[in-house]
Amino acid sequence: MKQKNISLTRYLVEQQRVDGLIPGQLRLLLEVVARACKRIALAVNKGELGEVMGSAGTENIQGEVQKKLDIIANETLIEANEWGGHLAAMASEEMEGIYLVPNRYPLGEYLLMFDPLDGSSNIDVNVSIGTIFSVLKKPEGHPGVTEDDFMQPGNQQVAAGYCIYGPQTTLVLTVGDGVAMFTLDREQGSFVLTRENVRIPEDTKEFAINMSNMRHWDEPVKRYIDECLQGKEGPRGKDFNMRWIASMVSDVHRILCRGGVFMYPWDKREPNKPGKLRLMYEANPMGWLVEQAGGAATNGRQRILDIQPTQLHERVSVILGSKNEVERVTSYHSGT
Ligand code: AHG
Ligand code: MN
Ligand code: MN
Repeated sequence: MKQKNISLTRYLVEQQRVDGLIPGQLRLLLEVVARACKRIALAVNKGELGEVMGSAGTENIQGEVQKKLDIIANETLIEANEWGGHLAAMASEEMEGIYLVPNRYPLGEYLLMFDPLDGSSNIDVNVSIGTIFSVLKKPEGHPGVTEDDFMQPGNQQVAAGYCIYGPQTTLVLTVGDGVAMFTLDREQGSFVLTRENVRIPEDTKEFAINMSNMRHWDEPVKRYIDECLQGKEGPRGKDFNMRWIASMVSDVHRILCRGGVFMYPWDKREPNKPGKLRLMYEANPMGWLVEQAGGAATNGRQRILDIQPTQLHERVSVILGSKNEVERVTSYHSGT
C-alpha cells in the first residue's frame, strides 16, 4: 500500500507536470475512461438486482452473442467520451465500424479503442471481468477520420490499460512510463494509486491456457505445455501450476501481480483465423502493459506491438507474460 492517498487525477496531473508524458487532452481522456469504468463497475455490481444479466439477444460483427452488459458497457464508454473534445473517433469490439464523434462536439486528437466488457462468459456466474482500452494519436495531415487512421501498430499507442471488476475494482494504466494500479475507493468515489512500477518476474511456474483445446494446438505450443506438465521429472525440472479464468483481463492481472505466462494461440479449429483474441483492443494494450512491466508479448513469431494491422477486428495469436517463458515458447516456434 502507498503511504499517501494519491488519486488518479493527482497522478495524471503530476505525470503531466513532471514528465510531460500526458498532454491535457490525454489526461481528460484517461479521466473520462476511468469515470466510465466506475459506472460500468456499478452496473456489474448490481447483478441480478439490475437489468444487467444474461443475453441481449443480438450478435456483434464477430458473430458472438452479445450479453446485456457488453452493450451497457459499450454505450457507457461512448456516452462518456463523445462530448469532451479529446477524441476524433472510437472503435469497439461491439461495433462494426468506427464511431465518429458527432458534429455537434469539437474534434480532438486521439483515437480510442476498447473491449467494453472482456470475459463475457463470466458475467452470469459472478467471476471477474473487465474493460480494456488502447489510445492512439490521430495521424496529422488530413481533415476528418477514417478507419485507416486506426491502422497503426501497437508500438504507436500513447496510453493503454484495463479496469478489472473483481473483488476490488482496479484500474491499471501505462502511458509508456511503467505500469501503475489504482484501486477504486468506494467511499471517496475515486481511484487511488495502490501500486507503481509494477514488475513481472522473469521466470514463473504458472501457465494459463484453455487446455480443452490441446488437441487443436500447433506443435510448439504442445511441446511447451507438455514440458510444463512433466514437472520436476521433465526437462524443466520444476512443477508448474495452471490457471484459466477465461477473461484475459483477469489472467493478465494475475500475471502483472505475480508472474506467469498466458497463451491463446492459433489453433487448428479455424486454421484461417490467426487466433481468437483481437489485436487492436485486446492484444496490443495488454502486450504493452506487460512489456512496460518487464514481460514480453509475441504471436509466436514476432512482437505483438510490431504487427501492422490491416483490419479493425483483426485477430492474433497471443503469448504474453514472464519474459523467459515467452521467449522459450517463441523460440519453439522458430525451431530453436
Ligand atoms: P470477450 O468476452 O471480450 O469476447 O473476450 C473473451 C476472451 C478472453 O478474454 C478470454 O481469454 C478468452 O476469450 C476465453 O476464451 P475461451 O472461452 O475459449 O477459453
Ligand atoms: Mn475480450
Ligand atoms: Mn468483450
